[in-house]
Amino acid sequence: MPGMMLGDTFPNFEADSTFGKIKLHDFLGDSWGILFSHPRDYTPVCTTELGRAAQLNSEFCKRNVKLIALSIDSVEDHHGWSKDIMAYNNEESGSEFPFPIIADDKRELAMALGMLDPEEKDQTGMPLTARCVFVIGPDKKLKLSILYPATTGRNFDEILRVVDSLQLTTKKRVATPVDWQAGGSVMVPPSIPEEEAIMLFPAGVYTKHLPSGKNYLRYTQQPSTTDH
Ligand code: BEZ
Repeated sequence: MPGMMLGDTFPNFEADSTFGKIKLHDFLGDSWGILFSHPRDYTPVCTTELGRAAQLNSEFCKRNVKLIALSIDSVEDHHGWSKDIMAYNNEESGSEFPFPIIADDKRELAMALGMLDPEEKDQTGMPLTARCVFVIGPDKKLKLSILYPATTGRNFDEILRVVDSLQLTTKKRVATPVDWQAGGSVMVPPSIPEEEAIMLFPAGVYTKHLPSGKNYLRYTQQPSTTDH
């Protein structure tokens, strides 16, 4: 089954979670959303990932992004495991895990969204979930996806970085280069002719000359997203 493709409307699924029953589109409202999957509760790599995601939750909130995790165990397991994750983060006992974890013990959602990892099985031979990341826009469309196998933990600073790029490039006609960080120079896309680029980017456009003589490597300052 093909998984989700960029631009697809994300299914408005209903699922049980540590925050009660969730209907995805209602839960997201006008926010951006990130749904990310985990192979299993009470596993080491997943614990470090969810610990980091919990630490970064306030950064995601500032960007109007709601996080939602999914793991193929029950709500009860998720509640127990969340306490371990908060302790791993050295949070005070009793601190609440800051975002919902979906229970997909029957793997229905994992199957429907193409999240299963064929290489990683549980003790009964059932496949575990891979480490998928789906970034969903306020229009409920898939804007970006990342897919790692169960044995490779993700980098949540990178997930925050791509949100910054997505939110900038949704508002402004720019593209972000390799290893870009918020505030760094951005690229003028090839589709914008030179005369238009000069009008669009009053801060100036710097073109790096290359042997081909094709002036495609054009930088400009990151435009502000608050001006009009
Ligand atoms: C982990 O989260 O540590 C993990 C889960 C499944 C397979 C390998 C590692």
